[in-house]
Amino acid sequence: MTTPLRLGIAGLGTVGVGVVKIVRQKANLLAARTGRPVVITAVSARSKDKDRGVNLNDYAWEDDPVALAKRDDVDVFVELMGGHDGAAKDATEAAIAAGKDVVTANKALLALHGQELAEAAEANDRVIRFEAAVAGGIPVIKSLTEGLAGNEIQRVMGVMNGTCNYILTRMQDAGLPYEEVFAEADALGYLEADPNLDVGGIDAGHKLALLSSIAFGTKVAFDGVELEGIQRISIEDIHQAAELGFRIKLLGVAQLTGRGLEQRMSPCLVPADSPLGQLKGGTNMVVIEGDAVEQVVLRGPGAGEGPTASAVMGDICDIARGLRISTFGVPAETLEVAKSAHSISPAPYYLRMELLDRPGALAKVATALGESGISIDRMRQSQHEGSEAPVLIVTHKTQRDALDTAIDAMKATGVLAQDPVALRIESV
Ligand code: NAP
Ligand code: HSE
Repeated sequence: MTTPLRLGIAGLGTVGVGVVKIVRQKANLLAARTGRPVVITAVSARSKDKDRGVNLNDYAWEDDPVALAKRDDVDVFVELMGGHDGAAKDATEAAIAAGKDVVTANKALLALHGQELAEAAEANDRVIRFEAAVAGGIPVIKSLTEGLAGNEIQRVMGVMNGTCNYILTRMQDAGLPYEEVFAEADALGYLEADPNLDVGGIDAGHKLALLSSIAFGTKVAFDGVELEGIQRISIEDIHQAAELGFRIKLLGVAQLTGRGLEQRMSPCLVPADSPLGQLKGGTNMVVIEGDAVEQVVLRGPGAGEGPTASAVMGDICDIARGLRISTFGVPAETLEVAKSAHSISPAPYYLRMELLDRPGALAKVATALGESGISIDRMRQSQHEGSEAPVLIVTHKTQRDALDTAIDAMKATGVLAQDPVALRIESV
């Protein structure tokens, strides 16, 4: 008789219920694949009486997730509550102290406290697994830590927030303004409780920081991610980018450069015919570049009950099989502090502005760029009727700092009717 793996699940929302369903409906498949039964012994959520559409009567109930985490009949604490502090952190720490392995989908918790939690887990000979925390159903952490373990990773990039990708592609396809599509995404339940986590790039930044750590063997450094959200992207930018042959994506890029670790999550232009450019709706994509493998592209659903529960179950099955991998792929105590690159690699930029339509205005913009050492690749002034002239410039490769200096100089001349929109054009 093989020993069952006993789960204690804290959080019975979208993801938690998905996990309960898989454990109940696929018991035989899971036992066949792992060589032992995978069972739930206890669960916890805020409200015991809520109808969650699954039968929970077979499991012990705990009001307090910390008590659940410490139960003797729990081998793996499955944290699916969310939040970077409070119950999720307290219960995860309690589980580790009580000698339990942990599986979580919580990117915020790990992006902010991953190092201390990993060190505590490894000191106790426990594992923390978090496949579901990055890019939902895509097995990207497994790819990095296992399938690509023979590579020096050069760059990891991708679209890791489905809500932002939904908003940007819906704007493009339906020709709708940001505000209207944001309201639509809200009505569809796509937005986090705090929408700024999505549209401000924070959720995707958490995910990028976690991937960076695994890819480059560095301590998670969320505060080293240069963050910019999609709130300023207008339908005009979507149209202009399309005319130039690009799509706008909230793109995360992490790479080791001679200056240090560069991590950025920002709206970028990518070629419309590239895999990233063609990514639609809530789908995620992660591109991994390694010295031996060259490039691997992973694409799949970034959120939702089934895809996220699928990733949680992958981690649980690995633990059931006895596979024990350090939280970030190498022992936490060996992770190095990431030296931040401080500035980002040069790139061409898209610069859209509204100029006051008066003599010499365009010359002042061109002078500001020239004095910052920025060369213009393409430029267009569109037909207009009012007193403001829409001007679009594509620069040759430049440093972002130089562009910011040029924009400040343009503002000082008084020819800009509003702050320009500057977007990096990424080679993917
Ligand atoms: P959710 O639907 O809001 O569910 C959260 C669950 O946690 C609820 O059952 C809630 O109880 C319970 N909970 C919250 N605070 C609690 C506390 N203090 N004590 C006990 N239970 C508590 O969230 P979710 O969408 O399933 O997300 C769970 C985690 O997965 C988060 O870390 C999220 O970032 C991550 N994730 C989600 C997705 C997705 O597609 N949803 C994708 C990737 C990662 P009640 O039900 O009683 O209120
Ligand atoms: N808010 C996240 C997204 C959920 O839109 O991708 C999955 O992490």
